[in-house]
Amino acid sequence: MKTRSFWKAGGALLLLAAVALSGCSEESPRSRTGFNTGWRFLLSDDAQAAQYYYNDSSWRLLDLPHDWSIEGEFSETNPATPGGGALPGGIGWYRKAFKVDPAEKDKLFSIEFDGVYRNSEVWINGHLLGNRPYGYSSFRYDLTPWLKYGSEENIIAVRVDNSQQPNSRWYSGSGIYRNVWLVSTEKTAIDHWGTFITTPEVSDDKALVRIEVKIRNTTGDSETVSLVSSVYDADDRKVVTVITKSLQLEDTITTVNQEVTVKDPLLWSDKEPNLYRVVTDIIRGGKLTDRYETKTGIRSFEFDASRGFILNGVQTKIRGVCNHHDLGSLGAAINTRAIERQLELLKEMGCNAIRTSHNPPAPELLDLCDRMGFIVMDEAFDMWKKSKTRYDYSLNWDGWWKRDLEDMVLRDRNHPGVFIWSIGNEILEQWDSTGIIMARELAGVVRSLDSTRPVTSGCNDPNPWNYIIKSGSLDLIGFNYHDSLFIRFPETFPGQKFIASETGSALATRGSYDMPSDSVRRWPLRWDIPFNEGNADMSCSSYDNCSAPWGSTHEDTWRLIKAHDYLSGMFYWTGFDYLGEPTPYWWPARSSYFGIIDLAGFPKDAYYLYQSEWTDKPVLHIFPHWNWNPGQTVDVWAYTNCDEVELFLNDRSLGEMKKTKDDLHLAWKVLFEAGTLRAVGKKEGVEILREEVKTAGEPAAIIITPDRTVINADGSDLSFITVTIVDKENNPVPYADNLVRFAVEGNASIAGVDNGSQVSMEPFKADYRKVFHGKCLMVLKAGVKDGEVMVTASSEGLESAVATIKLGR
Ligand code: GAL
Repeated sequence: MKTRSFWKAGGALLLLAAVALSGCSEESPRSRTGFNTGWRFLLSDDAQAAQYYYNDSSWRLLDLPHDWSIEGEFSETNPATPGGGALPGGIGWYRKAFKVDPAEKDKLFSIEFDGVYRNSEVWINGHLLGNRPYGYSSFRYDLTPWLKYGSEENIIAVRVDNSQQPNSRWYSGSGIYRNVWLVSTEKTAIDHWGTFITTPEVSDDKALVRIEVKIRNTTGDSETVSLVSSVYDADDRKVVTVITKSLQLEDTITTVNQEVTVKDPLLWSDKEPNLYRVVTDIIRGGKLTDRYETKTGIRSFEFDASRGFILNGVQTKIRGVCNHHDLGSLGAAINTRAIERQLELLKEMGCNAIRTSHNPPAPELLDLCDRMGFIVMDEAFDMWKKSKTRYDYSLNWDGWWKRDLEDMVLRDRNHPGVFIWSIGNEILEQWDSTGIIMARELAGVVRSLDSTRPVTSGCNDPNPWNYIIKSGSLDLIGFNYHDSLFIRFPETFPGQKFIASETGSALATRGSYDMPSDSVRRWPLRWDIPFNEGNADMSCSSYDNCSAPWGSTHEDTWRLIKAHDYLSGMFYWTGFDYLGEPTPYWWPARSSYFGIIDLAGFPKDAYYLYQSEWTDKPVLHIFPHWNWNPGQTVDVWAYTNCDEVELFLNDRSLGEMKKTKDDLHLAWKVLFEAGTLRAVGKKEGVEILREEVKTAGEPAAIIITPDRTVINADGSDLSFITVTIVDKENNPVPYADNLVRFAVEGNASIAGVDNGSQVSMEPFKADYRKVFHGKCLMVLKAGVKDGEVMVTASSEGLESAVATIKLGR
């Protein structure tokens, strides 16, 4: 392998030549197409299924991404355990046939898997291509040596083994749950993940953009080519071009370095996520041989021991959440719109950062973070060599950690949204001296591929004796919980930099309220018993008065982070409820209670706490609902950023409360009386917001609200349809639990149903759902034909509701 430096290649002559060459409007010989449709699937093992000649016609026909676990039934006896989501695992096979045009005989073909959970083995035409134990890595195989051309079919067979469980502390899903791609290039082409773009010098008037390109030449001959890279802005205007001429490609891989200066760059930030793209062409004998596109963003940042996180010179608090990868009722099967909706809800709350706990995410998540302005902590592992569950990745550690870590960095290092690499979460080696060497090795691997971002690890013993911290390999000391130690950070770790990699673990069920609201419960109360006190309905209170014992309330942690500049920010555990880990309960609870937003995507009350603190928009949210017993004393809370709020019950003032600097909520004790509770929020003495809750009568009707009424007819776009049960005056009924049935007419299908209850045993793939605390969700998935789709929601004794969704292109 050779490394050549052409950084100084910026002269006028070269630029002229570049203009001539980059005028190249030829179509790129590279193609990368989705390889998701028309797979056959068998949920069982069959050693013969790897063979070329095999009759799979009786197998189920489906499109990827696919997660077979989410289609199963909950059971306490499923080996995943409730901690893993209580859904079935097992072994599955996928097969797909495809043909290749003989005109493409001189090309290289490869297949790319964004992620398969787990232990995948892949064959083409009966030849084994390889295996991949880790379910979160992206990988690819070269197909070229085994391809058949013309009328003969090629067969890809994939065996996925998720039978040995538990292997995860949360719901993993099973199958080819991320996208698959078929890639073809000429024999001289830019390598897989073959560019690395950095912006080492950034100011308001110019930025230096460094472009490292790896070219793979497998022609067997020496080649002479030119390499032309052009930078385009978001409006598709070419802003600068660099050319490297007369490149001799003798070996398999040649590394080329180029540099350009972008004038008056539009910087990437969480507020204004401006993007650029770099188009890199290989030109041989005047012909375009490869074109490779890399999205990038121009930004500068640093973590500072006293000022925290500085982005483009501006002190910026990281206001983040941790998330697992499941998408509620869709399971682990990735869907870009479903991820986008999650991010939209978080953005609306004022969140600006995501930790991909505790594994590399789907590439689409990172694309969306780049585009929507999220700062990402990209995390590699939940364990190293010491296991957390019986069959987890620790069993594959020795053979795979380096490859998996390298692949994460190589795949993700061009994303402007990625700011932090995490080498692991709550790694058990932090209490073992082997942690010193291991941490150094891991951090070393990361830095050898990217030295522009800090390395951290989520430590749940964030003290100087921690072996991972002691190794000196962390650029950011990652605190998981231990809020009481935050304040001593500058003394405990002089000169070091802080990130709260995980905070909170507050627990809540949407729409559940335990009073008195000011008594805080920490569950479980004893470590050896998973649950020894709680509510009969397995709910957790939404007054921010319930948390895991190692965690804290929402307010306590944020108050601290907000107060001190050296605390660069936090990642709250978690943005969304996720399947599995139903702390504080156990069976029949099967999903988590930690989310600020429930599994169906309905915000819990704490959402508005963050919105009032993390955004500038006026916020006034009062709770709870107004259906209590006459004479009962009810705690009424308001999350607001108004200066003062006056509360009225049936038009009688219950007093005005002023918000001081330290208040994160306002509270009243109110003697319940049916009617209307109204809050009036004022800023500088002037009313700016009004919010009401009313006592609801009996359920009378259904209201359905799609998040979008026009979606793409592309076979994957979604409309998230919220069902609300109301009384005859249209007031939402907080305790409604009616069974709602859905009918869909037109070219769309039901992708999932949910209601956010952590204990519901109903299936996610169904055309019915009981509402929970007055609400449920139906996810409508577009077909591939334009037209109108009519959705009807009905329930015995209630007025039905109809919505029309338009499918277009
Ligand atoms: C943390 C852990 C997370 C999750 C959380 C629940 O210690 O890193 O993965 O288990 O606890 O509170």
